[in-house]
Amino acid sequence: MGILDNKKIIVMGVANKRSIAWGCAQEMTKQGAEVIYTYQNERMKKSVSRLVNNDDQLIECDVSSDESINDAFSKIKERFGKVDGIVHAIAYAKKEELAGSILSTTRAGYSLAQDVSAYSLLAVTKSAHDLDLLNNPASIVTLTYFGSERAIPSYNVMGVAKAALEANVRYLARDMGEFGVRVNAISAGAMKTLAVTGIGGHSDLLKVSKERTVDNKSVTLEEIGGTCAFLMSGLSTGVVGDVIYVDKGVHLI
Ligand SMILES: NC(=O)c1ccc[n+]([C@@H]2O[C@H](COP(=O)([O-])OP(=O)(O)OC[C@H]3O[C@@H](n4cnc5c(N)ncnc54)[C@H](O)[C@@H]3O)[C@@H](O)[C@H]2O)c1
Repeated sequence: MGILDNKKIIVMGVANKRSIAWGCAQEMTKQGAEVIYTYQNERMKKSVSRLVNNDDQLIECDVSSDESINDAFSKIKERFGKVDGIVHAIAYAKKEELAGSILSTTRAGYSLAQDVSAYSLLAVTKSAHDLDLLNNPASIVTLTYFGSERAIPSYNVMGVAKAALEANVRYLARDMGEFGVRVNAISAGAMKTLAVTGIGGHSDLLKVSKERTVDNKSVTLEEIGGTCAFLMSGLSTGVVGDVIYVDKGVHLI
């Protein structure tokens, strides 16, 4: 018996076994959920296929295109019927804008970071709602980082995008409530993933983050995944429009 028995959940953003999305998928599977995966492009499909054997569970979705989102969600509805949740674990900014001063941010780079990392949550929710893909109740969880609140070295344009993402969580939570859809974010502690290697001086960021945890141990994929499973489950029906830290206390200091 798991807390997610009979639930179908879409997980967006697995790139490899270090991905936070993969940690979420693993913990939710342990709790009984059936997980459907979306991947960004053919290159990502190759690496996700090493983790997920059943090709039917893999669907392409580039969140920078409304058409791609609609196609993916239509296919999912056809193949699996309605779903009980979506995990949005996606972000992108140009590598050259994730270093040094925020003054290196270009207009195009700013838009790109906002589009893929913040607007996409709105686009995904809107498409799922318009296609009547979500059950009532359902839960949507996104991933954010403390750089939305503090000026973290090199995080720059992504910190601004995460601030927008967290605001999206609040507005979406307000407007999706009447359809039984809860929207929340997990503010995860720093961990070494593909996305993080794009940040200038990421080894220092990871080192300092580890030192600032309450027990000098970095947060794990299992810990983030466990919170995701909780937010997808009936145990968290009172948690709405919130940002929950899963960072071993780094935000305290
Ligand atoms: N790693 C950390 O320290 C950390 C901390 C807090 C929050 N986060 C957030 O967690 C989420 C997942 O990142 P991660 O660290 O697991 O890295 P990751 O590189 O494993 O995952 C990022 C994913 O985003 C996907 N993606 C990028 N552009 C896309 C697009 N246009 N369409 C569809 N997918 C796209 C990539 O394919 C990849 O699967 C991100 O939102 C990230 O900002 C990460």
